[in-house]
Amino acid sequence: MTNATLRATGQDDTQFGIGQERACAELAAGLTRPQASIAPKYFYDTQGSKLFEAICALDEYYPTRSEREIFRLHGAAIAEAAGQGAVLIDLGAGNCEKAASLFGSLRPRTYVPVDISTIFLQSAVAQLRQTFPGLAIHPLGMDFSETLALPAIIQAQPQKLFFYPGSSLGNFGPLQALRFLRNIREQDGDLLIGLDLLKDVAILEAAYDDALGITAAFNLNSLRHVNHILKADFDLGDWSHQAFFNSAQSRIEMHLCARQACRVSWPGGARVFEPLETIHTENSYKFTRDSATELLRRAGFAHIMSWTDPQQNFLVCHARAA
Ligand code: AVI
Repeated sequence: MTNATLRATGQDDTQFGIGQERACAELAAGLTRPQASIAPKYFYDTQGSKLFEAICALDEYYPTRSEREIFRLHGAAIAEAAGQGAVLIDLGAGNCEKAASLFGSLRPRTYVPVDISTIFLQSAVAQLRQTFPGLAIHPLGMDFSETLALPAIIQAQPQKLFFYPGSSLGNFGPLQALRFLRNIREQDGDLLIGLDLLKDVAILEAAYDDALGITAAFNLNSLRHVNHILKADFDLGDWSHQAFFNSAQSRIEMHLCARQACRVSWPGGARVFEPLETIHTENSYKFTRDSATELLRRAGFAHIMSWTDPQQNFLVCHARAA
């Protein structure tokens, strides 16, 4: 089931759960817009998933440890709200560590880790099967950023808990986030979600521009991934990492900034970048408790409960589909 499911939904034999043709069309369109862009999902080839793991361990990157602290401090209350024995659908599962830390309290009937980085997911699941031999695990390698299309066998399950930790929802724009939440809500599942809270700009900017340069490497790695998928000829040395807080939009923006004039080409297309011209690679929206609750309500969720850490860095919410 593991490999078959990962490949069937991955649509190609690359390590990335999105068809090659669609990815090329999307990338070429983004690179030729006036403000060039690469969607953040292209961070996550196997190398990018490993770099993201390293980011989560950085001193500056507070979201991971703040969310862990919330589960440590409020785990019993969260488990009481979420209940036990559900099918746990882990969106953007990565190394599956966060969900695995909740298996004891949530006691899932089946675990469904979903991730676009299929090879990385495969190896995480192999390890998980050794640690939890009695647990039914149904991994899915897919891009759920546009629509979350679960196999009928999962969709038909009566008690579903969608787990969307790490403030990954913040990587969607407001409308896309609302559409995504409505899509989950329509699948009749409850939701356990982690969201990053608005805070001091210096703390936010340091989290996305760490001293060791891991986030810079993560950002630049997307060009390596684009070279691989699109057969483009980005020279990584021509680009530098940029991260800043856009207060009007309440979001961190990450860009890649051209160090000098450069021409990038790929089969069927090309673009010349001027010095300091950027490629927008990610938005990471920051929420308040009120804006998070309002968003969940607008998506149709009810009985919203939320917990934060003592520094009020991060928020975990549980919301019911009905
Ligand atoms: C996955 N996502 C929630 C991360 C974030 O904080 O927006 C991705 C990331 N980008 C740079 N550092 C981490």
